Amino acid sequence: LVDPLVAAIDQGTSSTRFLVFNAKTAEVVSEHQVEITQFFPKEGWVEEDPKEIIQSVYECIERACEKLGQLDVDLSNIKAVGVTNQRETTLVWDKETGEPLYNALVWLDLRTQSTVESLINKSPGRNKNHLKHKTGLPISTYFSAVKLRWLLDNVEEVRRAVEEDRAMFGTVDSWIIWCLSGGKDGGVHCTDVSNASRTMLFNIHTMDWDPELCRYFDVPMDILPKVRSSSEIYGCMKSSSLSGVPISGCLGDQSAALVGQMCFKEGQAKNTYGTGCFLLRNTGSKPVMSEHGLLTTVAYKLGKEQPACYALEGSVAIAGAVVRWLKDNMGIVKSTSEIEKLAADVGTSYGCYFVPAFSGLYAPYWEPSARGIICGLTQFTNRNHLAFAALEAVCFQTREILDAMNQDSGIPLEQLWVDGGMTSNRLLMQLQADILCIPVVRPTMAETTALGAAMAAGAAEGIKVWDLTAGELPEVVSETFEPQINSDESEFRFSRWKKAVQKAMNWET
Ligand code: G3P
Repeated sequence: LVDPLVAAIDQGTSSTRFLVFNAKTAEVVSEHQVEITQFFPKEGWVEEDPKEIIQSVYECIERACEKLGQLDVDLSNIKAVGVTNQRETTLVWDKETGEPLYNALVWLDLRTQSTVESLINKSPGRNKNHLKHKTGLPISTYFSAVKLRWLLDNVEEVRRAVEEDRAMFGTVDSWIIWCLSGGKDGGVHCTDVSNASRTMLFNIHTMDWDPELCRYFDVPMDILPKVRSSSEIYGCMKSSSLSGVPISGCLGDQSAALVGQMCFKEGQAKNTYGTGCFLLRNTGSKPVMSEHGLLTTVAYKLGKEQPACYALEGSVAIAGAVVRWLKDNMGIVKSTSEIEKLAADVGTSYGCYFVPAFSGLYAPYWEPSARGIICGLTQFTNRNHLAFAALEAVCFQTREILDAMNQDSGIPLEQLWVDGGMTSNRLLMQLQADILCIPVVRPTMAETTALGAAMAAGAAEGIKVWDLTAGELPEVVSETFEPQINSDESEFRFSRWKKAVQKAMNWET
């Protein structure tokens, strides 16, 4: 008897992946990955082409299915497809033509900085946390509502489509599910609670779009997708080699990683190193409000009748993106994997600190006007030191959010579970353990984000090929990195980093 298979689309900021898992062993049977072009049309602007995104999804599906064919695996063994995605990235399309009405505004985009500043200035006590009691989020360029506002204000096609009742808004999950389930010929317009909770239009207590928030941002509610749970059948694939297969899982990528790392219990946490870096700690059925600059977010709701589960989140905008910047903008490395050797050759930043605040600073500062800074340079500093400082920056940023999380929860994390592309960098993992002064644990199966989406899809009512009950979960094989430097050394470097952060925040004064 052949084990059932479940597939996952993982549409991230930098690339799209399609993975097919064995639902009994959680092993990857076939996969394909395609890079995504990012456009930077103006300083601070970050866009992606929605058509390129959906084409990359189709390409990944077809290539991975071909690989299955070469392995003599029948595609009919694929019982469900899950979707996981870069969150907050904002799209508007025409439901009659199926055409996007503008490029996707990527979560990192800073064009709404002045809108955000004026919203904060208008709020009582100039408080960026003015809407936090409903949304769990500070007012920031990061979330979808202000991006949608920009599209409504600045793109004539969007405005006209709204007036003529042709516009649909969605984050990347909605766009993918709508396209795959038929597009203009009856596609399903939906999102899940984890993605909805990143828009700033969603009330994390009532678990629905909030009319007052929509009025605040002046967003018409009829362009919003229907909010569903993270694990249920939304529709079926209408084209591609997987035509007819149910789409039954949907999770923002950080939620998917939490599920893929099996962090189902209150207090469990994971940190994912992708384009950015996101530490989520499961807080169970309670939305815990942070006193230390973290977000309160809906982690998942694994079934229509299941309770929602919340998380505290520390978001760092720039992690893997700093390595891509060193490659694309500075030419310091030819490939992102080169950074490890470059940094390892010197094993120190030689007093150089690099705060990559390219998109302002996210948690715990939420300062959109911060900008990147490199300091502590001498004539001795070379590209190796800079590479080391870039990796150290990722670790220091994680330390800041871990400290905030420990303060908020009162129970310090004893070890940190990690995943994501950058975790293949062993130097980074060791540095992270040294800077946190706790062990860092890396599962040998790195694709936890896709795994989480596949688990949600496979566990849905009507599919039920994946069992999420505790005793039935696959065993996670992992490797642990223990701290190797003494904590004084670690504290000294961290205190220097914090000084550099202050400079990045006040670089104009
Ligand atoms: O909130 C943004 C996040 O979902 C993007 O994730 O993996 O593309 O850095 P990633």
